[in-house]
Amino acid sequence: MNFQTIFNQKFPQVEALAPGRVNLLGEHTDYNDGFVLPTAIPQQTVVQIGLSDDRMYHFYSENLDERVDMVEESFKSGEMQEEYARYIFGCIQVLKEVGYTISPINLYVKSSVPLGSGLSSSAALEVATIRGIRQLFNLPIDDVEIAQFAQKAEIQYAHVQCGIMDQMASSLADTEHMLFLDTRTLERRVLPLPEGAKIVVIDSGVPRTLAGSGYNERRAECEQAAQLLGVKALRDITDVSLVETLPEPLRRRARHVVTENNRVLEALQNVASLEQFGELMNASHASLRDDYEVSVPALDILVDILQKTPGVFGARLTGAGFGGATVALVAAGEEKNIAEKVLEQYNHAGYTGNILVGA
Ligand code: GLA
Repeated sequence: MNFQTIFNQKFPQVEALAPGRVNLLGEHTDYNDGFVLPTAIPQQTVVQIGLSDDRMYHFYSENLDERVDMVEESFKSGEMQEEYARYIFGCIQVLKEVGYTISPINLYVKSSVPLGSGLSSSAALEVATIRGIRQLFNLPIDDVEIAQFAQKAEIQYAHVQCGIMDQMASSLADTEHMLFLDTRTLERRVLPLPEGAKIVVIDSGVPRTLAGSGYNERRAECEQAAQLLGVKALRDITDVSLVETLPEPLRRRARHVVTENNRVLEALQNVASLEQFGELMNASHASLRDDYEVSVPALDILVDILQKTPGVFGARLTGAGFGGATVALVAAGEEKNIAEKVLEQYNHAGYTGNILVGA
């Protein structure tokens, strides 16, 4: 299948790409106005777009082999079941809401970003879609605005109260650098990945769905904690002892956010060695597991195997949690060896993992 056979149109008028991301440090901090440190992964989402010659929008996902043909009204009446199409149509809608005219299009999407592993396949789809639409209709929007529109589409049309990390990473990061982002001000710094190390990402094989998970619940708990502490967002607390006055489970949730923000800042300012960076990642996992409670047994086992493997500086779950993937920082040149060895042990423990980056 390709654009031509699906839409019976000779060529797409534009093609746009966007990568998935893996977050090294700063988990569940973005919707608390905090700090994050993601990098792009090599896997990308590609969209090809042409103008539709009827009054309908036509979308096709190569990965899912799903076609959606629709007029605008059918989306408004909530008829659209196909999740990938919601993201695409959500992007179109948010652009229309700010006054751009987006006439009906044919959009073909294919992606090598794994779905449901916490590597932001949805952000890659949103960013690639808006990039393609920007090009096709010559819209005067920059890469930060692309991320902002993409986040809005996810919140309003996929109903996930996400922060802006994934969309900013997909829109602005590359695979050679980490993107330090202050999610309150959107100030950012592009830094080289730690020298002498490579990234290994392994999928736990336990799928996760954001909207169905406790993600929105965690977000609400953080907002409640901030309110009780009298601050705009948990980002405004840097002294972790201040959270001790909160009732449980808000105390633990807030403790994670405050310590995680501090870990990102420490990685930025005080890290002299790969070992130190790795320790921050290990501490992040413990905090996500014990205080934030977004890990699952499979992730804990996989992280534990990684952390015990020589050549691994640090490892943690990455993304929202509740399943999905782990990220590890390992000695450069050793990534394939390490990933395969770890996977063997993990599979031996009764799980079915999958190396996503580093093989
Ligand atoms: C998901 C969300 C992000 C962020 C992470 C957790 O990926 O989309 O905004 O909150 O979870 O760090």
